[in-house]
Parts: sequence; structure tokens; C-alpha cells
Amino acid sequence: MTMLNKTPLIWAGALAAALLLSGCEKAPEQPPVSFSKDVVPILKQHCYECHLPGGEGQVASGLDMSTYESLMKGTKFGPVIRPGDSTSSTLSILIEGRADPSMRMPHGDRPPLSKEETQVIARWIDQGAKNN
Ligand code: HEC
Repeated sequence: MTMLNKTPLIWAGALAAALLLSGCEKAPEQPPVSFSKDVVPILKQHCYECHLPGGEGQVASGLDMSTYESLMKGTKFGPVIRPGDSTSSTLSILIEGRADPSMRMPHGDRPPLSKEETQVIARWIDQGAKNN
């Protein structure tokens, strides 16, 4: 085989690599998460029972989820959501079970949130926890 015959193969390889690389660069952004459309329904289903004014969790911690503002205000000790950083947001830590099991939310014998649900909330926080 001469070098000439190998040339097309080399080019094909380079082209494939270039396509792969450009494919990576154009990886689609995560679709935006909406507070009202995506996050509130999850909180309603799993958290409102205890975190509306007068509820067990609201009375114990001060965390009132009835409005965006009260949710962002957090507990009597301060915010449980750090916009842009779900990893260090108490709310995500608790629903993902990253804290002590006795502190998992929802509290008590309630079933934990699904992976999809915790990811929706994490993405919303990472995208800035906006009132959108
Ligand atoms: C069955 C009642 C109940 C449900 C349902 C519930 N919570 Fe709670 N929550 C509590 C109680 C009680 C506390 C007070 C802290 C404690 O004693 O563990 C609390 C405290 C918290 C805190 C503050 C923790 C801290 O730093 O002190 C967060 C954040 C929280 N809940 C998030 C949630 C989220 C998110 C949901 C829904 C996925 C949820 N909770 C569902 C009862 C509940």
C-alpha cells in the first residue's frame, strides 16, 4: 500500500473526529424549568401538606411554601435555596436524601421524591431559582 491509498482513510478519521467534537460543543442546554409550571406542582403534591401556614413543617421550621417569596425566605434560620447552586441548597440536600435520613423531606414515612422530581427542582435552582 502506498501513502496515497491511506490518505482518504486518514481524512475520514479526521472528519469523524471533527464532527464528534463539534457535536459536543453544540450539546443542547437543559430546557428551562418553570417555577409555576414545573416546581409548584411537585411542592403541592409532596410538601404543602406540612409547609403551608399552620402546617406541621411550617410551624416547626418556619418554612412556608405558599408563595415564591415565602419559599425563598426559607426557615427561621434563613434561606434553604441558594440560587444557582443546588448542590449546597438545603432544600435539594434534604429531598435528595443527602442529609441524615431522619432529616429527609418529605418528613416521616412519606415516600421520597422520584429522581426526576428532585432533578427538576435541582435544575430550577441551578438556573437561578427564578419566579418564572
Ligand atoms: C409530614 C410533614 C412534612 C412534609 C410532607 C414535608 N415536610 Fe419539610 N419539614 C417538616 C418538619 C416537621 C420540619 C422541621 C424540621 C424537623 O424537625 O426535621 C421540616 C423542615 C423542612 C426544612 C428545613 C430544614 C432545616 O434546615 O431546618 C426544609 C428545607 C423542608 N422541610 C423541605 C421540605 C420539602 C421540600 C418538602 C416536600 C418535598 C417537605 N419539606 C415536606 C415536615 C414536613
